[in-house]
Amino acid sequence: MKIDFGEFAVPAAGAIIVGVWEGGEMTDPARRIDEASGGAVGRAIAASPRFGGKRNELLPIVAPANLSVTRIVVAGFGKPAEADTRRFEELGGTLVAHLNSVGETAAAAAIDPGPSAGLAPGLAAAHFALGAALRGYRFDKYRTTEKPERKPSLARLALAGPDPGDARRAYADLAATAEAIAFTRDLVSEPANVIYPETLAEQAAGLTSLGLEVETLDAERMAALGMNALLGVAQGSARPPRLVVMRWNGGDSRAAPLAFVGKGVTFDTGGISIKPAAGMGEMKWDMAGAGVVIGLMRLLAARSAKVNAVGVVGLVENMPSGSAMRPGDIVTSMSGQTIEVLNTDAEGRLVLADALWYCQDRFKPKLMIDLATLTGAIVVALGHDHAGLFANDDAVADRLVAAGKAVGEKLWRLPLDAAYNRAIDSDAADVKNIAGDRAAGSIIGAQFIERFVNKVPWAHLDIAGVAWSKKDAPTVPKGATAFGVRLLDRFIRDNYEAG
Ligand code: BES
Ligand code: MN
Ligand code: ZN
Repeated sequence: MKIDFGEFAVPAAGAIIVGVWEGGEMTDPARRIDEASGGAVGRAIAASPRFGGKRNELLPIVAPANLSVTRIVVAGFGKPAEADTRRFEELGGTLVAHLNSVGETAAAAAIDPGPSAGLAPGLAAAHFALGAALRGYRFDKYRTTEKPERKPSLARLALAGPDPGDARRAYADLAATAEAIAFTRDLVSEPANVIYPETLAEQAAGLTSLGLEVETLDAERMAALGMNALLGVAQGSARPPRLVVMRWNGGDSRAAPLAFVGKGVTFDTGGISIKPAAGMGEMKWDMAGAGVVIGLMRLLAARSAKVNAVGVVGLVENMPSGSAMRPGDIVTSMSGQTIEVLNTDAEGRLVLADALWYCQDRFKPKLMIDLATLTGAIVVALGHDHAGLFANDDAVADRLVAAGKAVGEKLWRLPLDAAYNRAIDSDAADVKNIAGDRAAGSIIGAQFIERFVNKVPWAHLDIAGVAWSKKDAPTVPKGATAFGVRLLDRFIRDNYEAG
């Protein structure tokens, strides 16, 4: 879908989108289209008692008289006082889904919130475009027999408003956001026979053209560093592991970097503690944390963020085999702490233990944030609307929650506490990788990880419930969500970028 920005004019063909506020008051472009169509907009609103102009409500007027457009879509803008960027993203996404479902190939969206909303028209248009681009994403490279009438139709979206230059400027960074998210969604959607540690590392290494520094550590190098927790997970697989380090140096050369660490289990069978067959295919997205970190680093480079950042992803495949770890095995992690592996399916925390320790040891970061599809228990606790947040630093936690609200990627903080920490003391080693009962499973996972952050300000996002969606949302089509890319980009922008 091609997106461009221009002045408002009544289009000659395709769909025209105009907004009305909750209660029915027309925006300026809606009034102009109403006049041009001999009052079609006003009549349609009057004839539709269930249309109230509430946010995301749509009222299509097909083949209006006096105009050559195929349809007018009247879009609910909601209450002017509540109009924000997120509102227009959702509207853009909702409209793209609608236009694709009816077969429109071109549309012009006349987005002018006017003076009653506290939002500049350029910003509203740019975020409408972002929402459209995000919802327009589709992973369809393996669908070879799909009928054309089932495919998305919308090829061109023109944004029309009083300040197209402003909108175009605002959209430059947002287009990079949409591209980074599509990149992450592609990585997460790819099956595990295509994306495995070596190929995922290659995808990251391919981003050097944007100015990122990318290093890849192989098994030998990791063995020399003592990363036996990560290597233990990898040892059952025919696919060798990788650890990828990505660096973006856009800030003061002396400033400590922000660090982002991702769980990249390219497939999680559970290992010898094998998972049940039903739904196991979903475990191809157990590398979503790594996919988000790679996409975030790409975005920081693409928009030349004024910050120093490092991304570390631990890439392994968790397989059962004659060389796999056995329950009860004890491994010595890079930190020196010994780990009793009582369940080989609690593998993400083993990967993160070494990735986080390595990250803080080498980079002395200002803070570390890890993302991981860590526990099924987080889905029991929070479902699919919030990711779990754990942190040893209240300020970092609060900033993450605020950033999540602003972009529609919500977080809910859960506790860390010595009482939970005791549950993973091992009789045979320094720590065990499960508590042994079902109590507080996500907290237990976080407590384990915390033992490997060496008191650096840290937050852990358990994204197991939000990395993949089974239903469409306004700006997120079903499938891989890339949850975390926007959240962390916003977190960085709002709190850590100079000037
Ligand atoms: N990758 C899974 C967590 C997961 C489960 C993600 C469902 C998405 C959906 C993780 O490696 C895992 O297997 N966790 C175990 C931990 C348990 C053995 C303590 C779990 O949640 O069952
Ligand atoms: Mn597992
Ligand atoms: Zn896993």
